[in-house]
Amino acid sequence: LPSHLTVEGGHLYLGGRDIVDLARTYGTPLYVTDLDRIVGNFKRFTSALTAHYPAVQVLFAAKANGNLAVMRALAEQGAGADVFSSGELELALQAGMLPERLLFNGSSKSPGDLALAVEKGVRVSVDSVDELRQLEAAAAEAGKSVEIAFRVNPALEVPTHPKIATGLKTSKFGIPAEEIVGAYAEALACEHIDPVGIHCHIGSQILEVEPFARAAGVMVEVAKEVTDLGAHLKFLDVGGGLGIPYHHDTDSAPTPEEYAAAVMPVFLQGIRDAGIDPALWVEPGRWLVGDSSILVARVNSVKRAHRTFVNVDAGFNLLVRPAMYDSYHEVVVANKADQPADGTYTIAGPICETGDLLAQDRDLPAPEAGDLVAVLDAGAYGFAMSSQYNSRPRCAEVAVRGGKHALMRRAENLDDVTAAMQEPGWQD
Ligand code: LLP
Repeated sequence: LPSHLTVEGGHLYLGGRDIVDLARTYGTPLYVTDLDRIVGNFKRFTSALTAHYPAVQVLFAAKANGNLAVMRALAEQGAGADVFSSGELELALQAGMLPERLLFNGSSKSPGDLALAVEKGVRVSVDSVDELRQLEAAAAEAGKSVEIAFRVNPALEVPTHPKIATGLKTSKFGIPAEEIVGAYAEALACEHIDPVGIHCHIGSQILEVEPFARAAGVMVEVAKEVTDLGAHLKFLDVGGGLGIPYHHDTDSAPTPEEYAAAVMPVFLQGIRDAGIDPALWVEPGRWLVGDSSILVARVNSVKRAHRTFVNVDAGFNLLVRPAMYDSYHEVVVANKADQPADGTYTIAGPICETGDLLAQDRDLPAPEAGDLVAVLDAGAYGFAMSSQYNSRPRCAEVAVRGGKHALMRRAENLDDVTAAMQEPGWQD
């Protein structure tokens, strides 16, 4: 187990707090998040890069975990954010992140999104020439000017699940590298737009560093071309995507230091060749928050059938990754954490779908009704992707910090499920 997870008296602890105790205090299902771990991850990721080059800005990919307490903890450390919607933009500002440390990303921004970016004075990663023209019009309308990057599609194959490889030639994101110079030329000619950056993101949960180095290579080539065109680049944003070891025993995940050692020489050589000194921006989501949280579920019943099913009170309504990407998360019986495995169990959620399995065929100490199952590494794209499917209110989120615990989001109730519904008021 990583160092923020420990076992004492048979109980699993996160950030020094007994998970069994927390489940008793707050009820289940429950997300528990170690904010100290997130801060530690942020510091480590940042210093791995600044060891090579001082002008680094780490932007937290807010989609990975949108809880305001998480965003505030990162804001206090100087983090910015990759925001992918107007909601994420508002949250980042509420969390105290500086507008100049935000990048408004997205391949399908609405007129409202563009107007908000202009109003708040945040930089925009523009995903098409059509969007560029709309943004120019929005900026003109507001009498302001907007700094932008274009998102480059680097056309790179990456080793990850196909649903989260975002820089393939065929994926919906970014402008093809061969059209990128034309896009910058048009941006340079816009009266209210200043192209100051280049952006890309090749995908997520990547467990090799070599694809990141290749992407950096594409980025510095583009940087040179658009500099020659007359753009003054203030930043190159190489996106996020560094994976974490969900299989604690067998995954060999690159460290941030290894990531930096692969990417930085390409970046530094490239900007030297281009004769420029832009900041390096990175957008990690999963690496900062993934290992900070566990999802605690209570065992409702155990059924010996074709397999032995352990039916718990959390399913893909609260953690969709196993159902959506066949993702693996380690599972621990939190109140039997020191007991040896005695059989093979499949952890099934309460949702009315066959695919609602949080973990399959795991060797565990016999779970019984009332036991607590902890699903590890649930901090990234966990609560963030939760839903009210099957009319289940979302669960609470508890933060642990400096040995203390506190609610950072209350559990929803049935009123929260029906809050936005109304009797239809028919109109002609
Ligand atoms: N920047 C951009 C533009 C992105 O689209 C993403 C993730 C990131 C940064 C952060 O990537 P990270 O460092 O977290 O890998 N729901 C999926 C992952 C989707 C990632 C989408 N974009 C999952 O649960 O695996």
